[in-house]
Amino acid sequence: MLWSSALVIGLLQLCAAKPLTKRWDDLAEKHSWVEIPKGWELHSEAPSDHIFELRIGLKQDKIDDLIATLMETSDPFHERYGQHLSKEEAEAFVAPHPDSVDAVESWFEHHRISTSDIAHRTGAGDFVTLRISVAQAERMLGTKYNVYHHPVSGQRVVRTLSYSLPRELHSHIDVVSPTTYFGTIRSMRATSFLQPNIKPIEVIASKTDSTAISAAVPASCGTTITPACLRALYNTTSYVPKATTVNKLGVAGYLEEFANRADLQTFFNRFRTDAVGSSFSTVTVNGGLDDQTDPGVEANLDIQYTTGISFPTPNIYYSTGGSPPFTPDSQTTTNTNEPYLDWVNFILAQSSIPQVITTSYGDDEQTVPRDYATSVCNLFAQLGSRGTTLFFSSGDEGVGGGDCLTNDGKNSKVFQPAFPASCPFVTAVGGTTKVNPEVAVSFSGGGFSRYFATPSYQTTAVNTFVTGLGTKFNGLFNKTGRAYPDVSAQGNGFQVVIGGRTSSVGGTSASSPTVAAVFSLLNDFRLSSGKTSLGFINPLIYSTAATGFNDITSGSNPGCGTTGFTAGKGWDPVTGLGTPDFLRLQKLV
Ligand SMILES: *[C@@H]1O[C@H](CO)[C@@H](O)[C@H](O)[C@H]1NC(C)=O
Ligand SMILES: *[C@@H]1O[C@H](CO)[C@@H](O)[C@H](O)[C@H]1NC(C)=O
Repeated sequence: MLWSSALVIGLLQLCAAKPLTKRWDDLAEKHSWVEIPKGWELHSEAPSDHIFELRIGLKQDKIDDLIATLMETSDPFHERYGQHLSKEEAEAFVAPHPDSVDAVESWFEHHRISTSDIAHRTGAGDFVTLRISVAQAERMLGTKYNVYHHPVSGQRVVRTLSYSLPRELHSHIDVVSPTTYFGTIRSMRATSFLQPNIKPIEVIASKTDSTAISAAVPASCGTTITPACLRALYNTTSYVPKATTVNKLGVAGYLEEFANRADLQTFFNRFRTDAVGSSFSTVTVNGGLDDQTDPGVEANLDIQYTTGISFPTPNIYYSTGGSPPFTPDSQTTTNTNEPYLDWVNFILAQSSIPQVITTSYGDDEQTVPRDYATSVCNLFAQLGSRGTTLFFSSGDEGVGGGDCLTNDGKNSKVFQPAFPASCPFVTAVGGTTKVNPEVAVSFSGGGFSRYFATPSYQTTAVNTFVTGLGTKFNGLFNKTGRAYPDVSAQGNGFQVVIGGRTSSVGGTSASSPTVAAVFSLLNDFRLSSGKTSLGFINPLIYSTAATGFNDITSGSNPGCGTTGFTAGKGWDPVTGLGTPDFLRLQKLV
């Protein structure tokens, strides 16, 4: 038992003063939706004996200190710059306060949760996963779970429209899931799409073409993108990686998308002949699979372009398992994998983490409950404090897709920021197209968070833009929110081999792996000169390294029935600071 006798005595004294039933039955709402999230339908009541996994996120006691530390270790002007935390040091910050642990454990005891119901606990003890019945969870959270159906993906999930916690636990628990976050690994959006109108290159490149050490950008790069285009455009062609025994690049994969090894060889044969014979490794997370008969567009795009630029840096593809289809069979435990939370806790549990990780998935911020988004964003801050740079695609719908209406019952029209791009502790990547000059691509996601405030590292850049905008779009976006993207890269006409055939693929999904690979090479440069990895780069790129980017000054990102924001001189919410110039950045990092 988790229960110590001292604690029992303490509790008994407490009981005398305040009856237990009162203490744990005094519930207050934690989060609720006014309507069923878009795209979902109520299917049926959840069977009360259905067993599922419930994650409880305890308040991370010193999270503010962790964030302050992150800001120091990523500030190029600070003496602690580059002094990343070890796993143990980071865990000391996020471990819950003993009072939180005691309160949660006596709540468990009240509900007869025993040690055998605890499926997992993170190293810091900040997340506890219970394996319990729907009926038990309903009693603990004062709620009713239902089965909801997502017709487009065919998925069925057990969720609720609201949940509560004992009033006393609100200061001890940050989030409980699954509850009101309807995002699932299969319903989330990958930010890539096939582009049948862009004729793919089917000619196999000659050896001289693909390995030529040439600074010139091939003219074809205006329509179709290959690793040779990106290496020339962003000036990595002549760089030879040296720190390949320590430097790593990770690709986070979801949606049961598999990165195909045979396709990668075909890709190398066509577009990066010096890399033929090299590969990547796959790590499966929470029941993720590695089906080599089912290559994914997104997975192949990501891995072909990270390796295509960063070769011979080791690349790791993380295949995160989705929830199995809901079956109302109480004998089988349903795993309740959601995007982000399981994956990020899995990564944080490793003592050695890739120094750069790219993710090409996202959701409209408003569909992610604020408590869930905040918890995940804080876990990203923790990853940053460990010395990892996290890149996320900024989305493919400009300032917002669809009707852009709020889901608070008011149906007001506002630009729709994307999460995780809107988290201030990640680096969001927008899209460009064309060469000489590069211009913003119209789908490039950009905007201002409605959950997270403008972080100090970007206030000057963002204020300049907002001031220049005047009153335009007043009320449609949050002037005090975290603004994104931070940077950008090509996002159109990427040549990707899928099932042996080359196709054109577009999206900020293409941009994020590209920037990730360029920064992986910058890490290689730092690591091979005896320095630490860059870690969380935003304070650096908005200050001393800002001149290492090619400013993109034309194009816009229409959406929500508007013309969207316009790219211009300096930072803008279409292309951020611009596209990376490796040679210039090398001098600045
Ligand atoms: C704007 O962002 C702030 C964070 O700076 C947030 O607290 C606020 O609710 C947001 N306002 C709107 C209207 O979204
Ligand atoms: C990087 O490449 C671009 C385009 O090829 C070129 O204009 C620029 O001068 C290069 N930067 C450096 C530092 O050589």
